[in-house]
Amino acid sequence: MMAAFCSGNAQQLFKPGEVWNDVDGVPVNAHGGGVLFDKGKYYWFGESRARFGTEGVGVYSSTDLHNWRREGLAFIPDSDTTSEVGRGCVIERPKVLYNKKTGKYVMWFHLELRGKGYSAARAAVAVSNNVTGPYTYIGSFRPNGNMSRDMTLYQDNDSTAYQIYSSDENYTLRIVKLAPDYLSATAEDYFMFRNHREAPAVFKHDKKYYLITSGCTGWAPNQAALHVADSLTGPWKELGDPMRGADALHTYGAQSTFVLPVQGKKDAFIFMADQWNPKNLVNSRYVWLPIQFNKGVPFVEWSANWSLEGFDRR
Ligand code: DGJ
Repeated sequence: MMAAFCSGNAQQLFKPGEVWNDVDGVPVNAHGGGVLFDKGKYYWFGESRARFGTEGVGVYSSTDLHNWRREGLAFIPDSDTTSEVGRGCVIERPKVLYNKKTGKYVMWFHLELRGKGYSAARAAVAVSNNVTGPYTYIGSFRPNGNMSRDMTLYQDNDSTAYQIYSSDENYTLRIVKLAPDYLSATAEDYFMFRNHREAPAVFKHDKKYYLITSGCTGWAPNQAALHVADSLTGPWKELGDPMRGADALHTYGAQSTFVLPVQGKKDAFIFMADQWNPKNLVNSRYVWLPIQFNKGVPFVEWSANWSLEGFDRR
């Protein structure tokens, strides 16, 4: 499979599902994450996990997508447990965008309140002058009153940005346009589809928007789905399961989290997913695989190791 991605004498290989150490030899702790490219560097934000609980949002930097340096916790829960982001709250699926107009970095994440399970279903926002933080908490809310659990952010070419979120007990996926400063949601809030999906990851290719999601089976892996639309606000059409090869039906034991555009390479995207370990969340692993296109339609194929150079050989 994937001759383009496997062969050659690549120095650096991605090894999906294997332990991935940072440059200090410590496993990367950035789950349910996303990557921002800013001023020549990639920044990987994700859930910094203890065995079960939340330490906050971890951030790593890299210039080559292989060697990641931990920059610390970009967002730290309050020590005051009466605060809504106090220790014991749940912080999941953090994503960060840079706002050109304000010059600030804006983080959104899924927030659940201490001791309340997944019932709060809120989106939370924090802001910083520096990409690695510290991010200052702004507040949390349900966008236009809608439950908001798994989420991602997407910034379009014209700098308008959107939150895509699992709503209505995860039965419905919705998209809401952010305010120009990205610090709140506007009333432009659209229904995408009703299909009991979560873990949304969006990208744009050839004037079309693509969305990869998972089903809703807790931490257990399930079958992915691909949707396409001409406009982010829809209508969205289902194209089936984009995964190919061994264990494709369970997304290779993983769950989507983000699609990362590779800088300086045309039509080069990496599918990022989490292989959750619910017995010890900090030991969850990462599955990164290249997105390929067949007659313009994206698909993802399993490979035990692959190289970025494959994008140049297609
Ligand atoms: C699936 C979600 O995608 C995860 O982010 C997390 O909320 C788990 N469910 C919790 O069971």
